[in-house]
Amino acid sequence: MIDKKTKQKIIVTGGCGYIGSHTVVALIENNFEVVILDDLSNSNITVLDRIEKITGIKPTFIEVDLKDISRVENIFRYNKDVAAVIHFAAYKAVSESVKEPLKYYQNNLYSLMNTLMSQQKHGINNFIFSSSATVYGNSKTLPITEENEVQRPFSPYGNTKKIAEEILDDLVKSDPNFSAISLRYFNPIGAHDSGLIGELPSGVPNNLMPYITQTAVGIRAKLMVYGNDYPTKDGTPIRDYIHVVDLAEAHVIAVKRLLNNKQEEQLETFNLGTGIGYSVLEIIKVFEKISGSKLNYEITGRRDGDVPLLFASTNLAKEKLGWQAKRKLEDMVLSSWKWEQNIRKVK
Ligand code: UFG
Repeated sequence: MIDKKTKQKIIVTGGCGYIGSHTVVALIENNFEVVILDDLSNSNITVLDRIEKITGIKPTFIEVDLKDISRVENIFRYNKDVAAVIHFAAYKAVSESVKEPLKYYQNNLYSLMNTLMSQQKHGINNFIFSSSATVYGNSKTLPITEENEVQRPFSPYGNTKKIAEEILDDLVKSDPNFSAISLRYFNPIGAHDSGLIGELPSGVPNNLMPYITQTAVGIRAKLMVYGNDYPTKDGTPIRDYIHVVDLAEAHVIAVKRLLNNKQEEQLETFNLGTGIGYSVLEIIKVFEKISGSKLNYEITGRRDGDVPLLFASTNLAKEKLGWQAKRKLEDMVLSSWKWEQNIRKVK
């Protein structure tokens, strides 16, 4: 048994959410002590028991709206011994952000600002940011490297990620002690092998994988495939799907890089993807094979804002972080399916 006092403490905002909860598990498994800050606006408190079931440890949990600066400040005042912050807390529904942009700018940017200001004030100088491949917009050159031009994202949600990265850039230039890593995710799917944690979209899912699994269990009548007239092999858009557990492991590596002072620049940016692109129809095919059932789907018109092709160059993460996604598409789809079946059993 490792002495609790030797553990380094990490604050994880949004730690009850999809990527956050998997990262909390990976941090605990790597002997970190975790304090979760979450307002539970898009997550469930039961995730704490599930994390405990997987790891044997229940993380500390503080329910807080990060828009409330005085509370956030207070939390950091009482947690000055925190070694780093991983900031997941944000709204993430692309289409909702188009309809309600101010809600997204307010939540995602106030939360970020309040977290950064409070941690800086208390000398907590390590920060990992949950960014997105959406900052590349419709990239003309593939695979997408970190050198690719950042474009104005189509959605206000995406724009909050771009603005956040700019804020971090300004912050590190102004403070020689502050270090940050921005991780640009491609398309996270999958769930923990235990089937105990996974993605829990509220309402109708926007994203492909939860829509597929919810259709298969009968919650949704039919999956709409948004367009088969793109310039791709089968006409449907291609994305770089990455297993959420691989993603979680990358966060642990990034935290260790900061804590061990291994970063080469004060703000580093890494793509997190597999480097392999799959089309929507390929995903459906793999799902049908794994579940052993036909999926009800229909080809319909294109969805606003979708780009034809997006996949990562993974070289920089490999070279600098020594990280590479290990899990295959079949693992991702199988774990998503297992998770969907498990949550429906619980209800
Ligand atoms: N798709 C469908 N039917 C659906 C849902 C999705 O055909 O019901 C298709 C989309 O058209 C797209 C592909 O499945 O071609 C993947 O769509 P997702 O919504 O799962 O993922 P996106 O690539 O659109 O979105 C992801 C992240 C966002 C991020 C965006 C841009 O989920 O957070 O990439 O990088 F902003």
